[in-house]
Amino acid sequence: MRMLVTGGAGFIGANFVFYMLREYQDISIICVDKLTYAGNLSTLESVMDDNRFEFVKMDICDREGIYGLFEEKKPDVVVNFAAETHVDRSITDPDVFLRTNIMGTCVLMDACREYGNIRFHQISTDEVYGDLPLDRPDLMFTEETPIHTSSPYSSSKASADLLVLAYYRTYNLPVTISRCSNNYGPYQFPEKLIPLMIANATADRPLPVYGQGLNVRDWLYVDDHCAAVDLIIRDGMIGEVYNIGGHNEMRNIDIVKLILKKLGKSEDLITYVTDRKGHDLRYAIDPEKIHKELGWLPSVRFEDGIEKTIDWYIDNREWWEKIINGEYKEYYRKMYGSVENK
Ligand code: NAD
Ligand code: DAU
Repeated sequence: MRMLVTGGAGFIGANFVFYMLREYQDISIICVDKLTYAGNLSTLESVMDDNRFEFVKMDICDREGIYGLFEEKKPDVVVNFAAETHVDRSITDPDVFLRTNIMGTCVLMDACREYGNIRFHQISTDEVYGDLPLDRPDLMFTEETPIHTSSPYSSSKASADLLVLAYYRTYNLPVTISRCSNNYGPYQFPEKLIPLMIANATADRPLPVYGQGLNVRDWLYVDDHCAAVDLIIRDGMIGEVYNIGGHNEMRNIDIVKLILKKLGKSEDLITYVTDRKGHDLRYAIDPEKIHKELGWLPSVRFEDGIEKTIDWYIDNREWWEKIINGEYKEYYRKMYGSVENK
C-alpha cells in the first residue's frame, strides 16, 4: 500500500507514521508537511533512513505541487492530518486556519479525484460538536450530534468535514472522517496543555491555568488514536464519520496537579489566568460506533499513558527545549507575558 500522510512532522501525524511502519512491512509512506512552526523534522529522524518512508516538504494548499506529487507517487490512500491546530492561535489569527484546514483539504480531495478516485481519510476533531454542560455528565457527543462550533479552529475543521461529505455525495469520492478527543503522548508541541505544564513545572515556571481550571477534556493516548485511524482506513464504511475517544474525562486542574505531583513540584506554581475567549466547557466522546462496527477499544489506561508521557518529556528535554528556546519564545511572551513574574 502506498499511503500519503500529510502533517506527518506534527504530533499525531508522526506518531501515526511510526505506528504504521511498526505494524506493516509492506507499506510505503510519503509524508507531506509544510514544516510550519508546529512541524519538526527532528521528530521523524528515526524513520528518515527507512526505505519505506519518504519526506516531502510541501504546502497542502499548493495545488500544482500536490497534483505533481500525486502524478509521480500514485498513492492508494491519503490520510490528512495537516492542519493549524491550536485554538488560542486561531483566536488571534484565524486566516491561516481557514486557508490550510479548508482550502488544503479541498486541494487534496481534488487531487484524489483527478488521479483515480483515491481513498481519502480526513482527521477531524470532537471540537466540531461544540461543548457540553459541566452539570450533565450523562450527555456525550455521538456522530449524530449537530455541528455547533465555538472557535475559528473548530469552525475551520467543521467546514472541512462538510466539504469532505459533499465530495462523497457529489463526486462519490471514497471518504471517511474520524473525530477524536484530546490526544496526549510523545512529540506534542509544548503550546498544548500537557506538554506546556510539564515544561513549565520542570523549570519551576508558573503554570497558566485558564479560568478556574474546571473545563473538562476527554484524553486519549496518541497510539490508540493511530490504531483507530488504521482500522477505519482498512474496514471503515465509505461516507461515514467515526468518533474516537476512551471515556476518560478530566478537569484541567486535576491534570495540572497530577503533573506537579509526578514531578515533585509545589502546587504554588499554579497561576490562574484570564480565560480563553469562547472556552468550550466540556468534551465527551461516545465511541460506541467504532467499537461496535470495527471492534476498536483503547488499550492504554490514562494512569499509564500520562506516566509514560511525563517520562518521555523528562528523557527528551532536548527535543522540546530546542522549541521553547526558538521562535516559540515570542509567542509565549505575547500569550502569557503577564504571568511570567509571579
Ligand atoms: P500539530 O499542530 O502537532 O501538527 C500539524 C502538522 O501539520 C505540522 O507538522 C505542520 O507543519 C503541518 N501543517 C500545517 N499546515 C500545513 C500545510 N498548509 N501544509 C502541509 N503541512 C501543514 O497537530 P496535531 O495535534 O498532530 O493534529 C493533527 C490533526 O489531528 C489535525 O488535523 C487536528 O485537527 C487533529 N486532531 C488533533 C487532536 C489533538 O488532541 N492534538 C485531537 C483530535 C484531532
Ligand atoms: O479535542 C480535540 C482538540 O484538542 C484538538 O482538535 C485540538 O487540535 C487540540 O489542540 C486540543 O484542543 P484543546 O483546546 O482542548 O487543547 P489545549 O491543549 O489547547 O487545551 C486543553 C485545555 O487546557 C483547554 O480547556 C484549555 C486549557 N489550557 C490550555 C493551555 C494551553 C489552560 O488552562 N492553559 C493553557 O496554557
